[in-house]
Amino acid sequence: MCGIIGYVGCEDACPILIQGLKRLEYRGYDSAGIAIQYGSQIQRYRCAGRISQLEKMFDPLTIKGTTGIAHTRWATHGEPTEKNAHPHTDMKGDVYVVHNGIIENFHILKRKLEKKGIEFSSDTDTEIIAHLIAIHFEGDLSEAVRRAISMVEGTFGIAVIHRLVPDQMVIARRGSPIIIGVGDKCHYAASDVAAMVRYTNKVVHLNDNELALITKDEFTLSTLHAKPIHRELETVEWNAEDAELNGFPHYMLKEIYEQPDTIKNATRGRLEPSEGVPKLGGIEPVWKELKECRHMVLVGCGTSYYAGCVGRYVFERLTEIDVEVELASEFRYRKLNFPPNTFVVAISQSGETADTLAAIREARRKGAKLLGIVNVVGSSIARETDAGVYNHAGPEIGVASTKIFTSQLTILTLLALLLGRHQKLSLTEGIEAIKAIRELPDLARKVLAQDNHIQSIAEKYYKYSNWLFLGRGYQYPIAMEGALKLKEISYIHAEGYAAGEMKHGPIALISSEMPVVVLAPGDSMYDKVMNNIQEVKSRKGPVIAIITEGDNRLKDMVDEYIEVPRTLEYLYPILTVIPCQLLAYHCARLLKRDIDKPRNLAKSVTVE
Ligand code: AGP
Ligand code: GLU
Repeated sequence: MCGIIGYVGCEDACPILIQGLKRLEYRGYDSAGIAIQYGSQIQRYRCAGRISQLEKMFDPLTIKGTTGIAHTRWATHGEPTEKNAHPHTDMKGDVYVVHNGIIENFHILKRKLEKKGIEFSSDTDTEIIAHLIAIHFEGDLSEAVRRAISMVEGTFGIAVIHRLVPDQMVIARRGSPIIIGVGDKCHYAASDVAAMVRYTNKVVHLNDNELALITKDEFTLSTLHAKPIHRELETVEWNAEDAELNGFPHYMLKEIYEQPDTIKNATRGRLEPSEGVPKLGGIEPVWKELKECRHMVLVGCGTSYYAGCVGRYVFERLTEIDVEVELASEFRYRKLNFPPNTFVVAISQSGETADTLAAIREARRKGAKLLGIVNVVGSSIARETDAGVYNHAGPEIGVASTKIFTSQLTILTLLALLLGRHQKLSLTEGIEAIKAIRELPDLARKVLAQDNHIQSIAEKYYKYSNWLFLGRGYQYPIAMEGALKLKEISYIHAEGYAAGEMKHGPIALISSEMPVVVLAPGDSMYDKVMNNIQEVKSRKGPVIAIITEGDNRLKDMVDEYIEVPRTLEYLYPILTVIPCQLLAYHCARLLKRDIDKPRNLAKSVTVE
């Protein structure tokens, strides 16, 4: 999610806040805003687009006021427009809030407040916080914030100011980071050290369900139940550039490590454990037709296409729907002939990929209904589909897609589970699936914990010029995705192949000079894959196997192995892809490649 910066001190806040926002630009955002308090007057400026556009709305040096908050938004609810940009306020314009995160129960709360005559001015979830604080405000801003956030479900990092309480800011955290910066006769608040590290390196981190009242002279930390907390200052060792990466050497590695959180964000507010049925609010507009759908086409490009390839197997397992997967760049030129009530599902991180956009426009012409699985709110594909599900994964800055892929797999699984539970899937199967999906973030952390071991494998093989990735069933697309990751950031030639196809040609390539990565978790294809490993070993091919933890049979057969925790067969791809991502990353790093911006590649291919 995006960026927050707040200031309470002796200097004019505006220039400080603008500079802080600029230090957050690297995170990617779609709109921005600022609010500056001068006594009981608060000025607010907001814009869709860049901070440079925000700056054109005023002269930072002429806006008086020593308290303020500012925000870069990565939209999750409500398109990236000026009216949806933060700070958000209540009807009277007393309370100003900036927010990172997702309020899961805002629909319910909004309906309740509207019945009481509260009028909303935006489409965001955030605005509910401003109204709740205003309702509870009786002179004590901390207490009003405390009561307001005790009513919301979901994640927040917020900073709040109030017209009637000058020289004060209140911040609070649950699931989205917010940090206090301690200056000389001033204090800062930020979602990210990068926003304030040029002003101070003394910081205090808030933990979940904590709140702080900040003035220029002091800050008071407490729990949501008003229990005071004493916390020591920490000294930040990073410089501003490092802080942008939070200590990671590359955005790609940072995003690989974000996957436990982004997998959780893909399920946030969407898992209904008791009924074993996910909730996907974004598809409600077409639910009546989608429920009856028996033919579906998943389209995408590159990594998003491979997500669709996994999705097909998952839909086959969980639903009665006939699912095809198509490369968007091919699909758009085909003679399309859809059965009645066909849904075409566009999978796209950027929501702007030209081939995918063209594919859904052609599908529309031929009578299909359209769904989108998109990360960028308000993007072209999001707007041109009839309904869809957002990833809520935050901006993906590394050109090579990593956290989005596992987020796409998670959402495809939720969609298949939802449909399957309205077809033949039992309550027991649904509950089992949701339990396993809830465990995925922790299981992904276990895989990430093997990073050093994976790096040691990369060190042995990064100089080889050709690699082969093999997988069967759910793991076949992971073989293709693993090969793509290696190709696109290390420039090593790699092919992803169905393991059963090896004997039909690629086996001629096997030699001691060709590392073979085999996706071999303990699933229904295990025995067959074991045979393929034997075929490679008998021709002296070095085998790097990705296996289920504790699989001692395979450990003895292969040259290298990477273990993933046990899970359901159709969830294994979300875990087995992580070692492939890390293998590619470490090979590229050892080869000193430009990992976040590989040659010839763009993050979003908006041309054909
Ligand atoms: C994957 O690592 C690449 N960045 C590329 O294949 C990408 O997945 C493809 O261009 C599709 O992009 P989209 O998801 O934004 O549509
Ligand atoms: N969910 C909020 C919105 O869509 C905050 C998004 C963010 O974290 O930037 O406005």
